[in-house]
Amino acid sequence: MAYNFTVERTKNPKKRPESETQLGFAKYFTDHMFVMDYDEGQGWHDGRIVPNEPFLIDPASCVLHYAQMMFEGMKAYRCPDGSIQIFRPEMNVQRMKKTNERMCIPDLPDDLLVAAVEQLIKVDKDWMPKLKGTAMYIRPFIFGDEVSFSVLPAKHYRFMIILSPTGSYYSANDGGLSTTRIYVEDEYVRAAPGGTGFAKVGGNYGGGMRASKNAMKNDCKDVLWLDAAEHKYVEEIGTSNAFFKINDEVITAPLDSGTILPGITRDSVIQLLKKWGMKVSERKLSIDDIVEASENGSLKEIFASGTAAVISPIGVLNYKGKDYTVGDGQVGETAQKLYDTLYGIQTGTVEDFMGWTYPLNFDE
Ligand code: COI
Repeated sequence: MAYNFTVERTKNPKKRPESETQLGFAKYFTDHMFVMDYDEGQGWHDGRIVPNEPFLIDPASCVLHYAQMMFEGMKAYRCPDGSIQIFRPEMNVQRMKKTNERMCIPDLPDDLLVAAVEQLIKVDKDWMPKLKGTAMYIRPFIFGDEVSFSVLPAKHYRFMIILSPTGSYYSANDGGLSTTRIYVEDEYVRAAPGGTGFAKVGGNYGGGMRASKNAMKNDCKDVLWLDAAEHKYVEEIGTSNAFFKINDEVITAPLDSGTILPGITRDSVIQLLKKWGMKVSERKLSIDDIVEASENGSLKEIFASGTAAVISPIGVLNYKGKDYTVGDGQVGETAQKLYDTLYGIQTGTVEDFMGWTYPLNFDE
């Protein structure tokens, strides 16, 4: 379907960063945002692009109390010829459907997300960063917005998209990679079977803050979660999926427990490793096996994968008060090759031999 959203231009343009080296992650937001409403009977309606500014919400709005919401994460990239592209958006659409279904949020028409992203980026395209290592982070989200304390799905929802020119989530904003320290959380858990671990919802992250605080206390940037039942098997990292290279096997947690977020970067990493003929396994891996591999030298690499994190190598795991070095503590060759290939495809500097990119079309 052809969507033609109304556009109200801002009268108060936002302050821009003096240099793209200062972008960091989600510190700056563009001038405009996309908004659309849902009402029972009427469905999704009134899609519009408006100035990105604070908006009113009733203190009794159900999302503020019961957190019926979802979000997605995507990025747009500027190519050397000046064109702008996004990465595997159909995967975001599919994941959004699964999250909406789990959260009883009314689903969007399949083509709406990309149409809204395309028209919003067109309005704010002079905010697209150019520096190596940067991208436009796209944050679509939906929340129940009904004045009600009943623990029931809302009758009114709001779908919004905001944009943030960003650098990398963990490391220096210079387009290079560096290693990160990660804290292994062995008391609190992120997700249990039957819960919302596979869905992209705020509650998964809100419940993780206590562990993030533990990580900071131990001089770590993020948390590696263990499974809820036995606190034994590695699951995912706070912001991303996790990969472990032991000898020549690259291992990541399987999706079948329903506790792992099905990352689009995760899937891309698996496909690339298979294409390169590497041994990649989606299987359970215990923290004890990782500790042993660190001690006997067979733990070659650990890296996080995600839209925000891209590929983020991990140099040290902190577990039960002890540091375990990963490989030689430096950026590993698999992580580096994955980063160069993925970010290269995303930014049009490496040929898209996987057919993953989606050029945005700004024709009138
Ligand atoms: C993303 O990578 O897009 C995410 O949503 C992770 C976020 C917690 C930073």
